[in-house]
Amino acid sequence: MLMSNSTNPNRRDFVKAAGTAAAASLVLGGTALASVQSRQRRRLAMIGTGHRGSSMWGADLVKKYSDVVEFVGLSDINPKRAEAARSLMGVECPTFTSFDEMCDRTKPEQLIVTTVDATHVEYITRALDRGLDVITEKPMVTEAAAVKAVLDAEQRNKRKIVVTFNYRYAPKHQKIKEILQSGEIGPVTSVDFSWYLDTSHGADYFRRWHRLKSRGGSLWVHKATHHFDLVNWWLGADPVEVSAFGELNVYGKAGPFRHTHCRPCPHKAKCPFYFDLTKDARLMKLYASAEDVDGYHRDGCVFREDVDIYDTMNAVVKYSNGVQMSYSLNASMPIEGYRLAFNGERGRLEVRDYERQPWKVEDDSEMYLIKNFSGKREKIEVPRIEGGHGGGDDRLRDVIFRGREVPAHMRLPDSRAGAMSCLTGIAARTSVERRRPVRVADLVRL
Ligand SMILES: NC(=O)c1ccc[n+]([C@@H]2O[C@H](COP(=O)([O-])OP(=O)(O)OC[C@H]3O[C@@H](n4cnc5c(N)ncnc54)[C@H](O)[C@@H]3O)[C@@H](O)[C@H]2O)c1
Repeated sequence: MLMSNSTNPNRRDFVKAAGTAAAASLVLGGTALASVQSRQRRRLAMIGTGHRGSSMWGADLVKKYSDVVEFVGLSDINPKRAEAARSLMGVECPTFTSFDEMCDRTKPEQLIVTTVDATHVEYITRALDRGLDVITEKPMVTEAAAVKAVLDAEQRNKRKIVVTFNYRYAPKHQKIKEILQSGEIGPVTSVDFSWYLDTSHGADYFRRWHRLKSRGGSLWVHKATHHFDLVNWWLGADPVEVSAFGELNVYGKAGPFRHTHCRPCPHKAKCPFYFDLTKDARLMKLYASAEDVDGYHRDGCVFREDVDIYDTMNAVVKYSNGVQMSYSLNASMPIEGYRLAFNGERGRLEVRDYERQPWKVEDDSEMYLIKNFSGKREKIEVPRIEGGHGGGDDRLRDVIFRGREVPAHMRLPDSRAGAMSCLTGIAARTSVERRRPVRVADLVRL
Protein backbone atom coordinates (compact mmCIF):
# COMPACT_ATOMS: atom_id res chain seq x y z
CA MET A 1 0.00 0.00 0.00
CA LEU A 2 1.30 3.46 -0.89
CA MET A 3 1.69 5.58 2.23
CA SER A 4 2.81 9.02 1.20
CA ASN A 5 3.95 11.35 -1.55
CA SER A 6 4.38 10.24 -5.14
CA THR A 7 7.16 10.04 -7.64
CA ASN A 8 7.39 9.99 -11.41
CA PRO A 9 7.87 6.41 -12.66
CA ASN A 10 8.81 7.58 -16.14
CA ARG A 11 11.93 9.40 -15.09
CA ARG A 12 14.31 6.73 -16.33
CA ASP A 13 12.75 6.76 -19.80
CA PHE A 14 13.05 10.50 -19.80
CA VAL A 15 16.71 10.27 -18.86
CA LYS A 16 17.40 7.88 -21.71
CA ALA A 17 15.75 10.27 -24.12
CA ALA A 18 17.65 13.20 -22.68
CA GLY A 19 21.05 11.66 -23.46
CA THR A 20 24.21 12.26 -21.48
CA ALA A 21 24.87 15.18 -19.19
CA ALA A 22 27.96 15.95 -21.23
CA ALA A 23 25.91 16.36 -24.40
CA ALA A 24 23.35 18.39 -22.51
CA SER A 25 26.00 20.76 -21.23
CA LEU A 26 26.54 21.99 -24.77
CA VAL A 27 23.03 23.34 -24.95
CA LEU A 28 21.96 23.90 -21.35
CA GLY A 29 22.93 26.44 -18.75
CA GLY A 30 24.19 25.54 -15.25
CA THR A 31 20.83 25.14 -13.51
CA ALA A 32 19.35 23.02 -16.26
CA LEU A 33 22.51 20.90 -16.35
CA ALA A 34 22.25 20.24 -12.61
CA SER A 35 18.71 19.10 -13.19
CA VAL A 36 19.73 16.68 -15.98
CA GLN A 37 22.53 15.33 -13.79
CA SER A 38 20.11 14.80 -10.93
CA ARG A 39 17.95 12.70 -13.24
CA GLN A 40 20.89 10.42 -13.94
CA ARG A 41 21.37 9.47 -10.34
CA ARG A 42 20.99 5.78 -9.55
CA ARG A 43 17.38 5.09 -8.50
CA LEU A 44 17.43 3.27 -5.18
CA ALA A 45 14.65 1.62 -3.23
CA MET A 46 15.00 0.17 0.25
CA ILE A 47 13.17 -2.65 1.98
CA GLY A 48 13.55 -2.70 5.78
CA THR A 49 13.82 0.82 7.20
CA GLY A 50 15.13 0.09 10.69
CA HIS A 51 18.39 1.19 12.26
CA ARG A 52 20.82 -0.02 9.61
CA GLY A 53 18.63 0.93 6.69
CA SER A 54 17.95 4.44 7.91
CA SER A 55 21.57 5.16 8.91
CA MET A 56 24.40 3.44 6.96
CA TRP A 57 22.25 2.99 3.83
CA GLY A 58 19.91 5.90 4.57
CA ALA A 59 20.88 9.21 6.15
CA ASP A 60 24.62 8.66 5.54
CA LEU A 61 24.02 7.86 1.90
CA VAL A 62 21.79 10.90 1.44
CA LYS A 63 24.39 13.10 3.12
CA LYS A 64 27.44 11.87 1.23
CA TYR A 65 26.23 10.39 -2.07
CA SER A 66 23.23 12.44 -3.19
CA ASP A 67 25.15 13.50 -6.30
CA VAL A 68 25.07 9.90 -7.56
CA VAL A 69 22.03 8.24 -5.95
CA GLU A 70 18.44 9.13 -5.13
CA PHE A 71 15.87 7.27 -3.06
CA VAL A 72 12.67 6.64 -4.98
CA GLY A 73 10.89 4.44 -2.41
CA LEU A 74 11.12 3.04 1.12
CA SER A 75 9.23 -0.03 2.28
CA ASP A 76 8.74 -1.78 5.61
CA ILE A 77 6.05 -3.98 7.13
CA ASN A 78 5.78 -1.32 9.84
CA PRO A 79 4.44 1.86 8.18
CA LYS A 80 5.25 4.05 11.16
CA ARG A 81 8.89 2.95 11.11
CA ALA A 82 9.05 3.63 7.37
CA GLU A 83 7.76 7.16 7.98
CA ALA A 84 10.19 7.68 10.89
CA ALA A 85 13.05 6.51 8.67
CA ARG A 86 12.00 8.84 5.86
CA SER A 87 12.09 11.79 8.22
CA LEU A 88 15.44 10.73 9.73
CA MET A 89 16.88 10.35 6.24
CA GLY A 90 15.51 13.69 5.12
CA VAL A 91 14.07 12.39 1.83
CA GLU A 92 10.80 13.09 0.07
CA CYS A 93 10.18 9.73 -1.61
CA PRO A 94 7.00 7.76 -0.88
CA THR A 95 6.84 4.97 1.72
CA PHE A 96 5.06 1.65 1.26
CA THR A 97 4.10 -1.48 3.16
CA SER A 98 3.93 -3.48 -0.08
CA PHE A 99 7.22 -4.32 -1.79
CA ASP A 100 5.51 -4.98 -5.12
CA GLU A 101 3.64 -1.71 -5.07
CA MET A 102 6.85 0.14 -4.31
CA CYS A 103 8.61 -1.46 -7.26
CA ASP A 104 5.65 -1.03 -9.64
CA ARG A 105 5.17 2.61 -8.80
CA THR A 106 8.70 3.88 -8.35
CA LYS A 107 10.67 1.77 -10.89
CA PRO A 108 13.94 1.49 -8.95
CA GLU A 109 17.17 0.28 -10.57
CA GLN A 110 18.64 -1.22 -7.42
CA LEU A 111 17.19 -2.54 -4.16
CA ILE A 112 18.86 -2.22 -0.77
CA VAL A 113 17.80 -5.10 1.51
CA THR A 114 18.01 -4.21 5.20
CA THR A 115 15.21 -6.29 6.68
CA VAL A 116 15.41 -8.89 9.44
CA ASP A 117 17.98 -11.50 8.30
CA ALA A 118 15.59 -14.42 7.70
CA THR A 119 13.54 -12.32 5.26
CA HIS A 120 16.49 -11.35 3.01
CA VAL A 121 15.99 -14.36 0.74
CA GLU A 122 12.43 -13.37 -0.12
CA TYR A 123 13.29 -9.83 -1.16
CA ILE A 124 16.59 -10.67 -2.88
CA THR A 125 14.90 -13.25 -5.10
CA ARG A 126 11.83 -11.11 -5.81
CA ALA A 127 14.02 -8.15 -6.74
CA LEU A 128 16.22 -10.26 -9.01
CA ASP A 129 13.10 -11.68 -10.69
CA ARG A 130 12.03 -8.10 -11.36
CA GLY A 131 15.35 -7.44 -13.09
CA LEU A 132 16.82 -5.31 -10.30
CA ASP A 133 20.37 -5.41 -8.99
CA VAL A 134 20.57 -5.97 -5.24
CA ILE A 135 22.67 -4.63 -2.40
CA THR A 136 22.01 -6.82 0.63
CA GLU A 137 23.14 -6.54 4.18
CA LYS A 138 24.84 -9.53 5.71
CA PRO A 139 24.06 -12.32 6.36
CA MET A 140 22.89 -12.94 2.80
CA VAL A 141 20.50 -15.62 4.11
CA THR A 142 20.07 -17.76 7.24
CA GLU A 143 19.27 -21.23 5.87
CA ALA A 144 21.04 -23.57 3.44
CA ALA A 145 18.04 -23.89 1.08
CA ALA A 146 17.91 -20.09 0.83
CA VAL A 147 21.53 -19.99 -0.40
CA LYS A 148 20.47 -22.03 -3.41
CA ALA A 149 17.35 -19.96 -4.00
CA VAL A 150 19.45 -16.77 -4.18
CA LEU A 151 22.17 -18.20 -6.42
CA ASP A 152 19.55 -19.69 -8.78
CA ALA A 153 17.64 -16.39 -8.99
CA GLU A 154 20.82 -14.47 -9.71
CA GLN A 155 21.78 -16.86 -12.48
CA ARG A 156 18.37 -17.00 -14.15
CA ASN A 157 18.05 -13.21 -14.20
CA LYS A 158 21.66 -12.33 -14.99
CA ARG A 159 21.56 -9.55 -12.37
CA LYS A 160 24.13 -8.72 -9.70
CA ILE A 161 24.17 -8.97 -5.91
CA VAL A 162 26.56 -7.16 -3.60
CA VAL A 163 26.79 -8.47 -0.03
CA THR A 164 27.93 -5.63 2.18
CA PHE A 165 30.82 -7.14 4.08
CA ASN A 166 32.10 -3.81 5.37
CA TYR A 167 34.70 -5.44 7.65
CA ARG A 168 36.79 -6.30 4.58
CA TYR A 169 37.14 -2.58 3.88
CA ALA A 170 38.65 -1.66 7.27
CA PRO A 171 42.29 -0.80 6.41
CA LYS A 172 43.61 -3.14 9.13
CA HIS A 173 41.77 -6.08 7.53
CA GLN A 174 43.07 -5.16 4.10
CA LYS A 175 46.59 -5.05 5.60
CA ILE A 176 46.19 -8.60 6.94
CA LYS A 177 45.09 -9.78 3.50
CA GLU A 178 48.12 -8.15 1.89
CA ILE A 179 50.61 -9.59 4.40
CA LEU A 180 49.19 -13.09 3.87
CA GLN A 181 49.29 -12.62 0.09
CA SER A 182 52.93 -11.52 0.28
CA GLY A 183 53.89 -14.97 1.57
CA GLU A 184 55.86 -13.54 4.54
CA ILE A 185 54.73 -16.30 6.89
CA GLY A 186 54.62 -18.98 4.17
CA PRO A 187 51.54 -21.12 3.54
CA VAL A 188 49.06 -20.71 6.40
CA THR A 189 48.48 -23.93 8.32
CA SER A 190 46.05 -22.80 11.01
CA VAL A 191 44.12 -19.80 12.36
CA ASP A 192 43.28 -18.86 15.97
CA PHE A 193 40.32 -16.47 16.07
CA SER A 194 38.43 -15.35 19.21
CA TRP A 195 35.81 -12.62 19.01
CA TYR A 196 34.52 -10.95 22.18
CA LEU A 197 31.20 -9.08 22.46
CA ASP A 198 30.73 -7.13 25.66
CA THR A 199 27.81 -6.83 28.07
CA SER A 200 26.56 -3.80 26.13
CA HIS A 201 26.85 -4.77 22.44
CA GLY A 202 26.65 -8.52 23.12
CA ALA A 203 23.57 -8.13 25.31
CA ASP A 204 21.86 -6.04 22.65
CA TYR A 205 21.46 -9.11 20.41
CA PHE A 206 19.42 -10.76 23.17
CA ARG A 207 17.08 -7.76 23.46
CA ARG A 208 16.04 -7.85 19.82
CA TRP A 209 14.81 -10.23 17.10
CA HIS A 210 18.35 -11.62 16.87
CA ARG A 211 17.56 -13.73 19.99
CA LEU A 212 15.51 -16.11 17.81
CA LYS A 213 17.12 -18.57 15.41
CA SER A 214 14.10 -18.19 13.14
CA ARG A 215 14.88 -14.47 12.64
CA GLY A 216 18.67 -14.16 12.64
CA GLY A 217 19.86 -17.75 12.23
CA SER A 218 21.68 -17.43 15.63
CA LEU A 219 24.90 -15.46 16.19
CA TRP A 220 26.68 -18.24 14.27
CA VAL A 221 25.07 -16.71 11.20
CA HIS A 222 24.01 -13.16 12.11
CA LYS A 223 27.32 -12.09 13.67
CA ALA A 224 29.90 -14.70 12.76
CA THR A 225 29.09 -14.34 9.05
CA HIS A 226 31.36 -11.23 9.16
CA HIS A 227 34.20 -13.21 10.71
CA PHE A 228 33.74 -16.25 8.48
CA ASP A 229 33.71 -14.02 5.40
CA LEU A 230 36.97 -12.38 6.52
CA VAL A 231 38.62 -15.77 6.99
CA ASN A 232 37.37 -17.15 3.66
CA TRP A 233 38.72 -14.00 1.98
CA TRP A 234 42.00 -13.86 3.92
CA LEU A 235 42.71 -17.51 3.14
CA GLY A 236 41.26 -17.53 -0.38
CA ALA A 237 39.54 -20.79 0.57
CA ASP A 238 36.11 -22.31 1.20
CA PRO A 239 34.89 -23.98 4.39
CA VAL A 240 34.63 -27.76 4.06
CA GLU A 241 33.67 -29.13 7.48
CA VAL A 242 32.68 -27.64 10.83
CA SER A 243 32.51 -29.09 14.32
CA ALA A 244 30.97 -26.82 16.94
CA PHE A 245 29.59 -26.39 20.45
CA GLY A 246 27.23 -23.72 21.76
CA GLU A 247 25.58 -22.92 25.09
CA LEU A 248 23.30 -20.24 26.51
CA ASN A 249 24.92 -19.45 29.86
CA VAL A 250 23.99 -15.86 30.73
CA TYR A 251 20.90 -14.62 28.85
CA GLY A 252 17.41 -16.06 28.28
CA LYS A 253 16.32 -18.79 30.69
CA ALA A 254 19.72 -18.57 32.40
CA GLY A 255 18.77 -15.15 33.86
CA PRO A 256 17.52 -14.67 37.46
CA PHE A 257 14.29 -12.74 36.62
CA ARG A 258 12.54 -11.38 33.58
CA HIS A 259 9.90 -9.06 32.15
CA THR A 260 8.70 -8.17 28.64
CA HIS A 261 10.92 -5.11 28.14
CA CYS A 262 12.93 -2.58 30.14
CA ARG A 263 10.69 0.50 30.27
CA PRO A 264 7.92 -0.98 32.48
CA CYS A 265 10.20 -3.57 34.17
CA PRO A 266 9.81 -3.97 37.96
CA HIS A 267 13.41 -5.29 38.18
CA LYS A 268 15.10 -2.34 36.47
CA ALA A 269 16.82 -1.04 39.62
CA LYS A 270 18.70 -4.29 40.15
CA CYS A 271 19.18 -5.48 36.55
CA PRO A 272 22.73 -4.97 35.19
CA PHE A 273 21.32 -5.19 31.66
CA TYR A 274 18.68 -2.47 32.13
CA PHE A 275 18.61 -0.42 28.93
CA ASP A 276 17.02 3.04 28.98
CA LEU A 277 15.62 3.49 25.49
CA THR A 278 14.13 6.87 26.42
CA LYS A 279 17.65 8.38 26.46
CA ASP A 280 18.03 7.86 22.71
CA ALA A 281 15.72 10.12 20.70
CA ARG A 282 16.54 8.36 17.43
CA LEU A 283 15.68 4.90 18.77
CA MET A 284 12.51 6.26 20.38
CA LYS A 285 11.43 7.64 17.02
CA LEU A 286 12.27 4.49 15.04
CA TYR A 287 10.96 1.89 17.47
CA ALA A 288 8.96 3.20 20.46
CA SER A 289 6.78 5.40 18.26
CA ALA A 290 6.07 2.42 15.98
CA GLU A 291 5.60 -0.35 18.55
CA ASP A 292 1.80 -0.11 18.65
CA VAL A 293 1.81 -1.44 15.04
CA ASP A 294 3.78 -4.65 15.53
CA GLY A 295 4.38 -4.98 19.29
CA TYR A 296 8.15 -4.97 18.72
CA HIS A 297 10.13 -3.69 21.72
CA ARG A 298 13.64 -2.44 20.97
CA ASP A 299 14.41 -2.70 24.71
CA GLY A 300 13.21 -6.32 25.05
CA CYS A 301 14.29 -8.24 28.15
CA VAL A 302 17.56 -10.14 27.65
CA PHE A 303 16.24 -12.83 29.98
CA ARG A 304 13.10 -13.74 28.03
CA GLU A 305 12.40 -17.47 28.05
CA ASP A 306 12.11 -17.64 24.27
CA VAL A 307 15.81 -16.87 23.62
CA ASP A 308 16.99 -19.90 21.61
CA ILE A 309 20.44 -18.78 20.42
CA TYR A 310 23.80 -19.24 22.16
CA ASP A 311 26.01 -16.75 23.99
CA THR A 312 29.04 -19.08 24.18
CA MET A 313 30.26 -20.65 20.96
CA ASN A 314 33.31 -22.61 19.83
CA ALA A 315 34.03 -24.19 16.46
CA VAL A 316 36.77 -25.93 14.53
CA VAL A 317 36.60 -25.30 10.78
CA LYS A 318 38.47 -27.20 8.07
CA TYR A 319 39.09 -25.31 4.81
CA SER A 320 39.50 -26.40 1.19
CA ASN A 321 43.23 -25.58 1.27
CA GLY A 322 43.82 -27.77 4.33
CA VAL A 323 43.91 -24.88 6.84
CA GLN A 324 42.28 -25.49 10.23
CA MET A 325 40.71 -22.70 12.28
CA SER A 326 39.75 -22.65 15.93
CA TYR A 327 37.11 -19.96 16.40
CA SER A 328 35.16 -18.70 19.38
CA LEU A 329 32.44 -16.10 19.94
CA ASN A 330 31.46 -15.00 23.45
CA ALA A 331 28.66 -12.48 23.96
CA SER A 332 28.79 -11.46 27.64
CA MET A 333 32.35 -10.24 28.06
CA PRO A 334 33.80 -7.25 29.96
CA ILE A 335 35.72 -6.43 26.74
CA GLU A 336 34.89 -5.96 23.06
CA GLY A 337 37.32 -6.83 20.28
CA TYR A 338 39.25 -9.85 19.03
CA ARG A 339 42.43 -11.90 19.11
CA LEU A 340 43.57 -13.37 15.82
CA ALA A 341 46.64 -15.24 14.65
CA PHE A 342 47.68 -16.88 11.42
CA ASN A 343 50.19 -19.69 11.91
CA GLY A 344 52.26 -20.26 8.78
CA GLU A 345 55.02 -22.65 7.75
CA ARG A 346 57.56 -19.82 8.10
CA GLY A 347 56.09 -17.67 10.89
CA ARG A 348 53.09 -16.17 12.60
CA LEU A 349 50.99 -13.02 12.19
CA GLU A 350 49.36 -11.90 15.45
CA VAL A 351 46.60 -9.32 15.84
CA ARG A 352 44.89 -7.94 18.93
CA ASP A 353 42.02 -5.57 18.28
CA TYR A 354 40.74 -3.42 21.15
CA GLU A 355 37.28 -2.05 20.53
CA ARG A 356 36.21 -1.39 24.13
CA GLN A 357 37.73 -2.31 27.51
CA PRO A 358 37.84 -0.87 31.01
CA TRP A 359 41.43 0.37 30.65
CA LYS A 360 43.30 2.68 28.28
CA VAL A 361 45.16 1.27 25.30
CA GLU A 362 47.78 3.03 23.18
CA ASP A 363 46.79 1.39 19.91
CA ASP A 364 43.30 0.18 19.01
CA SER A 365 44.90 -2.54 16.91
CA GLU A 366 48.24 -4.22 17.43
CA MET A 367 49.77 -6.35 14.73
CA TYR A 368 53.04 -8.33 14.90
CA LEU A 369 54.95 -10.47 12.44
CA ILE A 370 57.15 -13.15 13.97
CA LYS A 371 59.26 -15.13 11.53
CA ASN A 372 60.57 -18.58 12.49
CA PHE A 373 64.25 -18.60 13.60
CA SER A 374 64.48 -14.79 13.35
CA GLY A 375 64.53 -14.33 17.11
CA LYS A 376 62.52 -11.13 16.87
CA ARG A 377 59.04 -9.68 16.60
CA GLU A 378 58.27 -6.96 14.04
CA LYS A 379 55.52 -4.45 14.82
CA ILE A 380 53.32 -3.75 11.81
CA GLU A 381 51.91 -0.25 11.51
CA VAL A 382 48.14 -0.56 11.33
CA PRO A 383 46.59 1.97 8.95
CA ARG A 384 43.87 3.89 10.72
CA ILE A 385 40.96 5.89 9.38
CA GLU A 386 37.87 7.25 11.07
CA GLY A 387 34.35 5.97 10.53
CA GLY A 388 32.06 3.03 11.19
CA HIS A 389 33.42 -0.52 11.32
CA GLY A 390 37.07 0.53 11.40
CA GLY A 391 36.56 2.93 8.51
CA GLY A 392 35.14 0.14 6.35
CA ASP A 393 31.69 1.64 5.84
CA ASP A 394 32.75 4.66 3.77
CA ARG A 395 35.28 2.75 1.71
CA LEU A 396 32.68 0.12 0.87
CA ARG A 397 30.13 2.76 -0.16
CA ASP A 398 32.73 4.47 -2.36
CA VAL A 399 33.30 1.25 -4.28
CA ILE A 400 29.57 0.58 -4.66
CA PHE A 401 28.33 4.06 -5.51
CA ARG A 402 31.33 5.87 -6.96
CA GLY A 403 32.89 2.87 -8.67
CA ARG A 404 36.16 3.67 -6.89
CA GLU A 405 39.02 1.71 -8.47
CA VAL A 406 40.38 -1.00 -6.18
CA PRO A 407 42.89 -3.84 -6.53
CA ALA A 408 41.44 -7.27 -7.40
CA HIS A 409 41.39 -8.46 -3.78
CA MET A 410 39.24 -5.46 -2.76
CA ARG A 411 36.49 -5.99 -5.32
CA LEU A 412 32.92 -6.06 -4.03
CA PRO A 413 31.87 -9.23 -2.17
CA ASP A 414 29.41 -11.17 -4.32
CA SER A 415 26.74 -13.81 -3.78
CA ARG A 416 29.35 -16.56 -3.59
CA ALA A 417 31.07 -14.79 -0.70
CA GLY A 418 27.64 -14.31 0.89
CA ALA A 419 26.89 -17.99 0.45
CA MET A 420 30.18 -19.34 1.78
CA SER A 421 30.18 -17.21 4.93
CA CYS A 422 26.56 -18.10 5.74
CA LEU A 423 27.21 -21.75 5.11
CA THR A 424 30.08 -21.78 7.61
CA GLY A 425 27.71 -20.44 10.27
CA ILE A 426 24.81 -22.68 9.24
CA ALA A 427 27.16 -25.69 9.42
CA ALA A 428 28.31 -24.61 12.91
CA ARG A 429 24.72 -24.16 14.13
CA THR A 430 23.74 -27.51 12.64
CA SER A 431 26.77 -29.16 14.26
CA VAL A 432 25.69 -27.85 17.70
CA GLU A 433 22.13 -29.07 17.14
CA ARG A 434 23.11 -32.48 15.79
CA ARG A 435 26.10 -32.94 18.09
CA ARG A 436 28.36 -34.03 15.24
CA PRO A 437 30.67 -32.55 12.58
CA VAL A 438 28.86 -31.16 9.52
CA ARG A 439 30.20 -31.07 5.97
CA VAL A 440 29.20 -27.93 4.07
CA ALA A 441 28.62 -29.98 0.91
CA ASP A 442 26.00 -32.02 2.79
CA LEU A 443 23.96 -28.89 3.58
CA VAL A 444 23.30 -27.80 0.01
CA ARG A 445 24.25 -28.91 -3.49
CA LEU A 446 25.41 -25.81 -5.37
N1 LIG B 1 27.04 -4.90 8.27
C1 LIG B 1 26.81 -4.52 9.50
O1 LIG B 1 27.75 -4.19 10.19
C2 LIG B 1 25.39 -4.50 10.04
C3 LIG B 1 25.10 -3.78 11.21
C4 LIG B 1 23.77 -3.78 11.66
C5 LIG B 1 22.79 -4.48 10.98
N2 LIG B 1 23.12 -5.17 9.85
C6 LIG B 1 22.08 -5.92 9.11
O2 LIG B 1 21.10 -5.00 8.65
C7 LIG B 1 19.80 -5.61 8.63
C8 LIG B 1 18.84 -4.76 9.45
O3 LIG B 1 19.26 -4.72 10.80
P1 LIG B 1 18.76 -3.56 11.79
O4 LIG B 1 19.71 -3.54 12.92
O5 LIG B 1 18.50 -2.35 11.01
O6 LIG B 1 17.37 -4.18 12.30
P2 LIG B 1 16.01 -3.40 12.58
O7 LIG B 1 15.18 -4.30 13.40
O8 LIG B 1 16.31 -2.05 13.08
O9 LIG B 1 15.38 -3.21 11.13
C9 LIG B 1 14.81 -4.27 10.40
C10 LIG B 1 13.57 -3.73 9.70
O10 LIG B 1 13.02 -4.75 8.87
C11 LIG B 1 11.61 -4.67 8.95
N3 LIG B 1 11.05 -5.96 8.55
C12 LIG B 1 11.03 -7.11 9.25
N4 LIG B 1 10.45 -8.09 8.54
C13 LIG B 1 10.10 -7.54 7.36
C14 LIG B 1 9.47 -8.04 6.19
N5 LIG B 1 9.08 -9.32 6.09
N6 LIG B 1 9.26 -7.19 5.16
C15 LIG B 1 9.65 -5.89 5.23
N7 LIG B 1 10.25 -5.36 6.32
C16 LIG B 1 10.48 -6.18 7.36
C17 LIG B 1 11.34 -4.29 10.40
O11 LIG B 1 10.05 -3.74 10.58
C18 LIG B 1 12.46 -3.31 10.66
O12 LIG B 1 12.08 -1.99 10.39
C19 LIG B 1 20.00 -7.01 9.20
O13 LIG B 1 20.11 -7.93 8.15
C20 LIG B 1 21.32 -6.93 9.95
O14 LIG B 1 21.99 -8.16 10.00
C21 LIG B 1 24.39 -5.17 9.37
